[in-house]
Amino acid sequence: MIIAVSGKGGTGKTLVSSLLIKSLIGKDLDILAIDADPDSNLPEALGIEVDRTVGDIREELKKDTAEGNIPPEANKWDILDYKIMESIIETPEFDLLVMGRPEGSGCYCAVNNILRKIIERLSSNYDIIVIDTEAGLEHLSRRTTQNVDLMLVVTDPSKRGILTAQRIEELSEDLDITFKKQYLILNRVKTGNEDELLEEVNKIGLEIAGIIHEDELIESYDREGTPLINLPDDSQAFTSILKITEVFKGN
Ligand SMILES: Nc1ncnc2c1ncn2[C@@H]1O[C@H](COP(=O)(O)OP(=O)(O)OP(=O)(O)O)[C@@H](O)[C@H]1O
Ligand SMILES: [Mg+2]
Repeated sequence: MIIAVSGKGGTGKTLVSSLLIKSLIGKDLDILAIDADPDSNLPEALGIEVDRTVGDIREELKKDTAEGNIPPEANKWDILDYKIMESIIETPEFDLLVMGRPEGSGCYCAVNNILRKIIERLSSNYDIIVIDTEAGLEHLSRRTTQNVDLMLVVTDPSKRGILTAQRIEELSEDLDITFKKQYLILNRVKTGNEDELLEEVNKIGLEIAGIIHEDELIESYDREGTPLINLPDDSQAFTSILKITEVFKGN
């Protein structure tokens, strides 16, 4: 099962991804978390330090090739594949792979192409892959999320957040990318604003999986740099995620 979390920048993709992973821990599942956002912050939310990303590996390989350190007969994809497997961070609860971005002016699409291959290659090694995607629509146009089973679109109550969610829905239709299931998650909702917001987002035509309210505890974790995965089991945000996962399971 491949789950991707998408939406406009800053709407809560990383919060949802990290709490989703928290909800899967302890269920005897092989879990892989992929941070596919070049402006990576999933490792911090999961409390993990990362020193080498796929972008770094690609740069190293480019440099080695330019300097003639790689025999011409070697298959570069095999080397890249080996190095990427090596860079997966393993913890007792889940594994983590961070895409990062190529240094300098390198085109980010190369990393996206690698990501698509990685997803294909690794999907049989894990029970669940959770991808924290790049903000916006690029992952669709570059088809990095084309094999995703469950697409979770996160929005906050802002007009631009909702517009991006709508565009994600429309673009996936235009590009003929069909997810087994696609849901909207409303984040940072203020108590009392639920009905008005629901009326507005219902127009997008995406099934709503649930609401996460604005939560002071998240803000204080942010201020102190505490990983969001350490939010208590009875916190508002985590209990909301548990309810949301019940909706997926129901389908
Ligand atoms: N429900 C919430 N209550 C309070 N703060 C929140 C809530 N959801 C997210 N935040 C805060 O809002 C900010 C953006 O959230 P997050 O990093 O999860 O979004 P993102 O979509 O991953 O952003 P980016 O596109 O920059 O990666 C973070 O500082 C996060 O802690
Ligand atoms: Mg993020």
